[in-house]
Amino acid sequence: MKSVTGPWVSGEDFFDRENELQILDQRVRDGNHVLLTGQRRMGKTSIAMELGRRLQADEWGFLFADVEGATGPEDVIAVIAEAVYPIRSISSRFAKAMHRWFTESIEEISAYDFRLKVRAGLSEETWQQHGGTLLRYCADLANPVLLVLDELPIFLKRMLRQKGGRQKVDEFLSWLRGLLQQFSGGSFVLMVSGSIGLTPLVRRLGISDRINYFYPFQLGPWNREVTIECLNRLAENSTVKVDSGVANAVYERLDTGIPHQVQFFFARLTDHALMHSQDRVAVEDVDDVYHNDLLGPAGQNYLVHYESRLIDGLGDDQDLTIAMEILAEASTKDVFTLEAQRQLGRLYLPIVDNAPDRISEVLDILEHEGYIEACGGGRRFTSRLLKDWWAARFGNNHVPIERRGPVR
Ligand SMILES: Nc1ncnc2c1ncn2[C@@H]1O[C@H](COP(=O)(O)OP(=O)(O)OP(=O)(O)O)[C@@H](O)[C@H]1O
Ligand SMILES: [Mg+2]
Repeated sequence: MKSVTGPWVSGEDFFDRENELQILDQRVRDGNHVLLTGQRRMGKTSIAMELGRRLQADEWGFLFADVEGATGPEDVIAVIAEAVYPIRSISSRFAKAMHRWFTESIEEISAYDFRLKVRAGLSEETWQQHGGTLLRYCADLANPVLLVLDELPIFLKRMLRQKGGRQKVDEFLSWLRGLLQQFSGGSFVLMVSGSIGLTPLVRRLGISDRINYFYPFQLGPWNREVTIECLNRLAENSTVKVDSGVANAVYERLDTGIPHQVQFFFARLTDHALMHSQDRVAVEDVDDVYHNDLLGPAGQNYLVHYESRLIDGLGDDQDLTIAMEILAEASTKDVFTLEAQRQLGRLYLPIVDNAPDRISEVLDILEHEGYIEACGGGRRFTSRLLKDWWAARFGNNHVPIERRGPVR
């Protein structure tokens, strides 16, 4: 197992998740469409890829489409077409159906060209028909197929911000639902994944029924035992020696087992040893690296992604401001209390319509996205690293909510 701190992992580099894989595998084999959610960097793409790899070994077709960059349904279908390309029986059949756009044979073009040509042939008027044809061809295969649409909620959020966005989102989800209902017997299974919750989005739009056919599955962190096992496995494969208490000390520091944080911490520890010409990582290095490295510029750089995902997820300026207030308070005061929530509602009443309701909605989203969780006195961060980082980045200028006058 290699130390990997960025892209998705699979095969040898994929650690554990056996229980989760067993559940997902069974659900998919039984023909259930799955909605896979989980906090940022929890390993969603990796588990989807690993599941696909295992299903493929069992003669399943596996299609993976990352639709994060899509701006309309036409792009989504083109990305799916790129994934379909290697299955020649479908791609050439589909090229025939869109013959006007395919002057050369399918063998002469790359998967990416195939995507571009399909995209050129799609318009607002035709995407439903062609998209339907493409997925129907997949469902017609002798073997069952799993299609993963990764980051679908980001695409929907982006579409929501366009003119007529609400209707476009509704149209897309209704089309998908209608189509999937036509495929019976588990011949075609869809898995939607993403760190921004689809559920709060459709709830806000009042169209929850468009996704109620999905089986929801939330990917959580590794527990202490698995985290320590993973760290020990990484240590076995490292060129730098790692003292036996280090794994435990890392878990104590992080207080949760978010796979990317675990991998990132390990990589920084071994880099630290090399930088200081140490031949081993010692338990004393753990605190040092946490404070000076993970919370320092290198770590901040990586954690900035959390902030950008939050902007993608909330979009609306006022909701974002409220979210930043809540997170700054929770990071500096440990808990965002019910009293702070009431006070924030009063403070924002003059500038935000229905401030208390909006705050409840934002809390709901933050909880759903895995930033915070309910605790005795209110809400607190789920991850200590994220909390400490948030405090380091935004804490200095944060005036505790109960000490504030009204917002102007
Ligand atoms: N099962 C695993 N075994 C080992 N490392 C893992 C595992 N899952 C995730 N990781 C670590 O987390 C990183 C991110 O994984 P991945 O891209 O799958 O997460 P994600 O939840 O899809 O992230 P994002 O929210 O950015 O889409 C990997 O580079 C790796 O360091
Ligand atoms: Mg991902």
